[in-house]
Amino acid sequence: MAKGKNTVVFFCQECGYESSKWMGQCPGCRQWNTFVEENVTVRTPGKSMSAGQAKSKPAPLSEISLEEEDRISTRMPELDRVLGGGLVAGSLTLVGGDPGIGKSTLLLQVCRNLAEGEKEVLYVSGEESLKQIKIRANRIGDFNGYLKLLCETSLEMIEENIRRTRVDVVVIDSIQTMYRESVSSAPGSISQVREATSVLLKLAKGLNISIFIVGHVTKEGTVAGPRVLEHMVDTVLYFEGDRHASYRILRGVKNRFGSTNEIGVFEMEASGLKEVRNPSEFMLSGKPEDASGSIVVCSMEGTRPMLIEVQALVCHSNFGIPRRQTIGTDFNRVNLLIAVLEKRLGISMGNCDAYVNIAGGIKIQEPAIDLGIAMALVSSFKNKTIDNKLIAIGEVGLSGEVRGVSMIQARLQEAAKLGFTTCVIPDVCMESVKDMTGIKVIGVKSVREAIQLL
Ligand code: TYD
Ligand code: MG
Repeated sequence: MAKGKNTVVFFCQECGYESSKWMGQCPGCRQWNTFVEENVTVRTPGKSMSAGQAKSKPAPLSEISLEEEDRISTRMPELDRVLGGGLVAGSLTLVGGDPGIGKSTLLLQVCRNLAEGEKEVLYVSGEESLKQIKIRANRIGDFNGYLKLLCETSLEMIEENIRRTRVDVVVIDSIQTMYRESVSSAPGSISQVREATSVLLKLAKGLNISIFIVGHVTKEGTVAGPRVLEHMVDTVLYFEGDRHASYRILRGVKNRFGSTNEIGVFEMEASGLKEVRNPSEFMLSGKPEDASGSIVVCSMEGTRPMLIEVQALVCHSNFGIPRRQTIGTDFNRVNLLIAVLEKRLGISMGNCDAYVNIAGGIKIQEPAIDLGIAMALVSSFKNKTIDNKLIAIGEVGLSGEVRGVSMIQARLQEAAKLGFTTCVIPDVCMESVKDMTGIKVIGVKSVREAIQLL
């Protein structure tokens, strides 16, 4: 135990804001009831704190060379894409997600690929025994490379192991189980998680090794969510998807070495995660034919267009207050679209329940799917089916106008590739797609015009 004084400190679970007293609302992130109490040891600064640290000195900007970073391919193109073209040496990557979503499986597969590619890889597990890891490894398939495993939760021991054995890539599964003796609070608490991350950050930068850390996201409870860590690490990836469905989406939300909002699509099979090379095809499989309320839209996920089915169900309400529900898209946005349909088109859904679902369980926030949602709602309301080969792209404004969207060409190409024959797009985008062949493009100025096409 380090010398020092024990005190109680309050931390915001969302943003890590530190305070000496409890507060209802966090001044940092403005969230309510996020403060938790923790015991911390305040170390008195001594000589030891600066000993062993290299002296830092400023360098002129003009003398800094801009070499390409060293990228290591994980041999999983979907993961490489989310990382921005491969793993960067000396980076710290956080992989977050609900328990059981497949984080350990993904990282074990990454370890296998890297070890086969002659990298020295160390997998540190604080959650599972060596036997359990072996069972998982057997499910994933053959391990030809040389992979080192370590079951350990003490940071001091992990640090010593990393420094002693020369490694290129380290996986820490999970950060919530790691603890440092000198920090008095329990493993998983915000101070422990922060301390562990800063130790790993120093190791990654100091030894130029890439470290993956796994973090569980919990909705509630005392376990520190990895959100607190987002500021500290270089890259944040979230693994999401419905645990009951087989596909998983890996989303980049922060990346110091590449673009964010790229996604990678995987499918969980009996023998580990398999990459899905053509997500549009995957997302549209199982689309009903000739059903009202169903339409295909195109959303950009990073640089990749993805075709997704939007489903709406509008039915008579049996209660005074109609029910509105959305799965996979913004609830308020759907309410707004219903209001636009009511006011601008005179379609009264006031005594109807309305449900909107993005098929496949994916979450879409892009406004470019507005037009599709509006058309699906009307289609269900009027019980009229929409042409199976038609897709709709466009943002809808409050006066019922259809506004332009970005990257229209890429979207149309994806639609044409998958055999769609007609595309309804905002009229303002017509100019940029006038040489488009292989798909009929219809420009609309308002939702009314789009609905008349049905
Ligand atoms: P896991 O990687 O342990 O999740 P996490 O580390 O995020 O908690 O994945 C657990 C789930 O994946 C579990 O329900 C079993 C399933 N699974 C498969 O379907 N196939 C496989 O090959 C493996 C290894 C796991
Ligand atoms: Mg796990």
